Amino acid sequence: MTDNIWTYASETHGIVSGAKLAEDREPEFISLRPKLLSEYIGQNEVVETFKIAIEAAKKRNEPLDHVLFHGPPGLGKTTLAHIIANEMGGTLTVSSGPALEKGGDLIGILTHLQANDLLFIDEIHRTPKPVEEFLYPAMEDFAVDFIFDKGAHARSHRFRLNHFTLVGATTRVGLLSAPLRDRFGIFRSLDFYSLEELITIGKRSAVILDIEIDDEGAVELAMRSRGTPRIVNRLLKRVRDYAQVRSDGIIRKKTVQAALALEGVDNKGLTHLDRRYLMTIIEFYKGGPVGIEAIAATLQEETDTLVDVVEPYLLKIGMITRTSSGRKASESSYEHLGFAVQQKLLF
Ligand code: ADE
Repeated sequence: MTDNIWTYASETHGIVSGAKLAEDREPEFISLRPKLLSEYIGQNEVVETFKIAIEAAKKRNEPLDHVLFHGPPGLGKTTLAHIIANEMGGTLTVSSGPALEKGGDLIGILTHLQANDLLFIDEIHRTPKPVEEFLYPAMEDFAVDFIFDKGAHARSHRFRLNHFTLVGATTRVGLLSAPLRDRFGIFRSLDFYSLEELITIGKRSAVILDIEIDDEGAVELAMRSRGTPRIVNRLLKRVRDYAQVRSDGIIRKKTVQAALALEGVDNKGLTHLDRRYLMTIIEFYKGGPVGIEAIAATLQEETDTLVDVVEPYLLKIGMITRTSSGRKASESSYEHLGFAVQQKLLF
């Protein structure tokens, strides 16, 4: 079953076969991605780790250790997998935990990997357990064990694999089983980017997209990007449209403000969903503490979306806190949404 597998030739970043990742559907997104570690902005310690690990692996003529990335969406997990494949001179095959429904899906991919190739498994914490069990010998011994027959007649045959590197990505490292987690030699968490890093990324992308952006415009864009490069690049495209159609073709502070007002992105970068989430805690649950399941049911949203996408940034900027009895809105979220903080005391 190869429908859910995406294979990229890392030298060209062209698509060799299969469907594309959702985020890659716009051809521009691929070109906005840095292709080398030296072009990568931010995550300095992660970048340094890989510069050393890749150079050492090449010197010893060995594959790179298996890598596990952890962190919220949009912070560069997939981009780094592309870069590592490129720098190792291998091909990147992209799949995801939920796409690997049966052992055969994974075995089909593993047996086609060449030495130094990378297999990227996104949402690796959602890999079905029977499939995960094939990963253990594949990671540790570069082998797949086939079992024939059952009971007393059971025989196994070991199929040798080329020395590939597995790159796993997860938003929830706590959901990974210990045997899987322990087989990764390199584990790195990606954090939200600083304002300066987001400004630099926005300016770099503006050059690639051939759109002029002034300093104030770049700051305004960065402030509204939730610490996330993917959001900088997505919003930049909307602001570029606005600048070219409704303005003078140059991205300035007021262009960003006007364009993003239409997108429902406010001055802290919060979206409609972020604000609905905060409103629910404040108005419906009197500021909390309230359990995530209750918030999800009220909003009619998936719990996973709230935990993986909405909450990490709200926690980062202190709009909410997580206690043992649930989520609480902090004073800054009352202020941001225009509630008097004293009102909270009246509830
Ligand atoms: N585009 C998206 N993420 C980037 C990063 N970290 N550095 C440079 N360009 C990027």
